[in-house]
Amino acid sequence: MAVVKFTLNGKAQSVDVEPRMPLLWILRDVLAMTGTKFGCGGGFCGACTVHINGSPVRSCQTLASGLNGKSVTTIEGLSADGMSHPVQRAWIEEDVPQCGYCQSGQIMTAAALVAKAPNPTDADIDEALHGNLCRCGTYQDIRRAVHTAARYRRAQIPADEKAQEKGVLA
Ligand code: FES
Ligand code: FES
Repeated sequence: MAVVKFTLNGKAQSVDVEPRMPLLWILRDVLAMTGTKFGCGGGFCGACTVHINGSPVRSCQTLASGLNGKSVTTIEGLSADGMSHPVQRAWIEEDVPQCGYCQSGQIMTAAALVAKAPNPTDADIDEALHGNLCRCGTYQDIRRAVHTAARYRRAQIPADEKAQEKGVLA
């Protein structure tokens, strides 16, 4: 066992676990945070996607030993109320989920995309989300919702940040 210290949804977190324990099981079994889903366990489906330092990663493939000092965000930490992040608002507006099982992973991947691509194309969306599988086939709804989320985000961000994205400010 080893103590691992990282930031989880903006708060300091410490767990005493086997160094080879995947982050997915730290979240679900140690910390009882079940919003992040177990799908394949092999890095193929994307159901377990979280952010580490702002980038989407497969938590089933991320070992405890690599977490020290990192910042982890899960679906529970995307917004304070669970629905006000632009991607969450868009998912509700566009009525995306069917069974819902893959959706926290889809949302986390989409949130990372709209954070770095203010106006993603269909190709950008397909490239970012191609590794997130959905048994219910919600892909067209997801693509539409990502466009909506990007629009919400563009409307939210402050004017000086918009100027930076357009290259007006250094
Ligand atoms: S559960 Fe991690 S990629 Fe499928
Ligand atoms: S909504 Fe059912 S697996 Fe994606």
